[in-house]
Amino acid sequence: MAVTTTIDRERLADLHRRELDTFVEMRPESSARAAAAREVLLGGVPMPWMTRWPGPFPIVFESANGARFVDVDGIEYVDFCLGDTGAMTGHGLPQVTDAIAARAARGITTMLPSDDATWVGEELTRRFGLARWQLAMTATDANRFVLRFARHITSRPKVLVFDYCYHGTVDEAFATLDPQGNVVARAGNLGPAVDPSVTTRVVPFNDLGALEAALAHGDVAAVLAEPALTNIGIVLPEPGFHQGMRELCTQYGTLLVIDETHTICVGPGGATAAWGLEPDMFVIGKTIGGGVPAAAYGLAAWVAEALAPALGSDAIDISGVGGTLTGNALATAAIRATLSSTLRPEDFAHMVPLATAWADGVASVIESRALPWSVQQLGGRAEYWFCPAPRDGARAAAAADHDLDAFMHLWALNRGILLTPFHNMALFSPAHGLADVELHTEVFAGAVAALLD
Ligand SMILES: Cc1ncc(COP(=O)(O)O)c(C=O)c1O
Repeated sequence: MAVTTTIDRERLADLHRRELDTFVEMRPESSARAAAAREVLLGGVPMPWMTRWPGPFPIVFESANGARFVDVDGIEYVDFCLGDTGAMTGHGLPQVTDAIAARAARGITTMLPSDDATWVGEELTRRFGLARWQLAMTATDANRFVLRFARHITSRPKVLVFDYCYHGTVDEAFATLDPQGNVVARAGNLGPAVDPSVTTRVVPFNDLGALEAALAHGDVAAVLAEPALTNIGIVLPEPGFHQGMRELCTQYGTLLVIDETHTICVGPGGATAAWGLEPDMFVIGKTIGGGVPAAAYGLAAWVAEALAPALGSDAIDISGVGGTLTGNALATAAIRATLSSTLRPEDFAHMVPLATAWADGVASVIESRALPWSVQQLGGRAEYWFCPAPRDGARAAAAADHDLDAFMHLWALNRGILLTPFHNMALFSPAHGLADVELHTEVFAGAVAALLD
């Protein structure tokens, strides 16, 4: 548990109960619709994680535009979650809605390439530098596909991931280290096909010694890494970590896969361009479709060459890579519209200073109260912790304070702010403004005052 010695647990429980009552009173419509949904949907929601929002039922949303959304009770929220990066461009970008309407009117799914795909490939190369591109429907799919390719090219069975990473619903990545350093299934993972210790090696983030020891076994096809961990809270790479990881992968004949699905918040070319990373394979999903499901993966030239014989095979349809609707014209048009109209340098020049202002506002409250909490920023994303910033995933997981998290989220929701679920993160879009940041600082200060005064 985090270092939150100054928080009185009884007071926290009492405040939480009051916020729950407020939540219910404010939202009769969401409550009624959630009750109806429970009659037909598993857990009352269309996707399992949707039960994880604070409150006794999920808020049902009516419409979303720019940096805001409105629920079925007519309450407006500033959206700092942005579909956990899926809507980092802001909701309902006109260029994207126009492009998908035009494309839908001309047909969506043919299993034939549309002209937008070439534009998309050129733009992805310009931003991220890899030579060849393929599309996928989700970042999960893209990760699955590149791992297959890496095993095929290297004839090695294993994948290496960092402890407490998240790369989507990828079986190999649901592995973690137990206190003795053994690879075990991540708690909560349902029905794994095989024990993940068979498929996966796991090392702590920022630990080059452990990485080298794991790669020295000679059985790792690919290292799958986010440039910074973002799914157990933000854990930044220490100086030299990326260079060391690149060198070790080359030395041990392991492919380096960089997953920029979240770290695109660093800039137009993600951390890859900003920090000079040199992945062999690259994955990006979520935001590149401007809200439409879409993902892409990139291959260095040598990887594309190594794959060429397999791609020419008659059996390519059963390669385990693909999907009938993958590369469909709607998703491809959405990517083109998104990358041609947003996520540009001028958009980041707006978003990143807002994230800095958000972090500064939170830090000023923490300092004024002398709390042992901290704030971390990664480009257009920022997050607060109830402890000093951790250097690896296990320390980050150990620092979680679920009761305090739940209260902070609920307090924010009742005052018109949606944070990213699972941790205390805010993401910025080009549609956010300084008033949104100021509202958050005020609401955060109010929560801290309620807890301490
Ligand atoms: C770094 C990273 N990669 C991949 C994914 C999977 O994305 P999706 O759920 O859209 O497949 C996620 C989802 O949170 C992610 O954070």
